[in-house]
Amino acid sequence: MNQIAEPPTRSPVGRGMPPTPSRWRGLDSVDAAVGDAATPLPATVRGALPEWLRGSLLLNGPAVWDLPKHGYRHWFDGLALLHRVQFPGDGGARYHSRFLDTEDARLSRQRGRPELGGFGTKVAGGLWSRLVHLANPRRTDNGCVVISRCDGQWLALTESDRVTRFDPQTLATLGEWHWADRLKLPLMAAHPCVDARGRWWNVGIRLGRSCEYVLVGVDRQAVREVKARIPVQRAGYLHAFAMGTRHAVIWECAWRAHALRFLFAGESYAEHFDWMPQQGSRLHAVNLDDGSVRSWDAPALFAFHAPQAFERGNDVVLDLCVADRPVFEQLDLARLRAGGDAASAAAARARHVRYVLSPGAATAREEPLPGRFDLPQVNMAAAAHGPVRYVWGATAREGSGFFDRVVRIDHASGEIIESADDSSVALEPLFVPTPSARTEDGGVLLVHRLADADAGSRICVLDAATLAERAVVHLPAVVPFGFHGHWLE
Ligand SMILES: [Fe+2]
Repeated sequence: MNQIAEPPTRSPVGRGMPPTPSRWRGLDSVDAAVGDAATPLPATVRGALPEWLRGSLLLNGPAVWDLPKHGYRHWFDGLALLHRVQFPGDGGARYHSRFLDTEDARLSRQRGRPELGGFGTKVAGGLWSRLVHLANPRRTDNGCVVISRCDGQWLALTESDRVTRFDPQTLATLGEWHWADRLKLPLMAAHPCVDARGRWWNVGIRLGRSCEYVLVGVDRQAVREVKARIPVQRAGYLHAFAMGTRHAVIWECAWRAHALRFLFAGESYAEHFDWMPQQGSRLHAVNLDDGSVRSWDAPALFAFHAPQAFERGNDVVLDLCVADRPVFEQLDLARLRAGGDAASAAAARARHVRYVLSPGAATAREEPLPGRFDLPQVNMAAAAHGPVRYVWGATAREGSGFFDRVVRIDHASGEIIESADDSSVALEPLFVPTPSARTEDGGVLLVHRLADADAGSRICVLDAATLAERAVVHLPAVVPFGFHGHWLE
């Protein structure tokens, strides 16, 4: 039922292997000539798409890991490819993709090696190259992680301050977004937050003998206005932060940056961090009105994503998807291309933990929450006004190799529902609310799936309340495994 007749339009390159009928084709490099498909191709729809579902699913992710001289070594590192699945409202769907045209992509393709490095890949060039760039260390602009909208611009982001603009209709790259301020924040969270008033926020790290987390808000014209600075001896790895209605919450991972290594060592991004569990972690809440900061101790933690943060009386509450140590190696490219293993599946099964930050307390109070998952999703409109009842995420069966299930958590009842289809990879379930929804979970989840037998990737349209499958969109190509999507109305 879930197969389409058309052959895949892409084939793997650089690995010296013919196409394999395996879900792990989602980690094959996409040919440059094929990925840039300016004309949308028809997709095959099985089942009935909701009539109200009109717009586009935008996906971002890595797509080229193999270059002639050297390849990238980590899933997170591949050169970015943008995807658009259009739902015009006529019951059908169309698909096209385009590479993000960045300095990193141009240099790396030209020189046949990962020129600006990556999470798990060393920077090309020796010490001389790094000294030349000391005043302004080379950092990647390969925005393969997150899509965000700021001041009317669509942005592709990674964990540096180099951000790329693109056109969400054509997916054409529009150039680098140059910050019109003098802040030097080489590391920035890949996930900005947008508050209830529509203001765009992000957190950067100033590296030095001591470090600072810097919370910035952007209203217009690419000017980052500093709301708070949080001095720390060694900043922790930063992928995201969370926002309640009155506070931003930053979690300080115990995987801590070594500033000098960032400047001189030329190692991979991950090798610039040390796991220091003896120092524990810190949770910082920034008051969005006056910028004041309060901090709490917490056991050593590592976390990519937070389902939500909110205020409860005088407490600030943070829900996190927590690993007890960095899960970086578990998501190494070679390991995943070999089908993953128990460790990589465990990385997809982060603990769901609530931290209650109470005035006068020195330590965060930890409360376990139901479910093990990552890549969380909530109804953002509901989350802007307080705690949400429902959280969705991607998870993995115990013992499987990778994300292969969708999970739904009901905070009110404690009920956990998991999708039953275990035969395919299943990535972030993007929540799209019904325009007229009266309930928080009124809407659908759009889930990128790929099974062994699929000719191309599938976008499964699930009822967000039950996880029942309403329709499946069979794309005319394999979409490489990425991280995060965005709904374009
Ligand atoms: Fe992320």
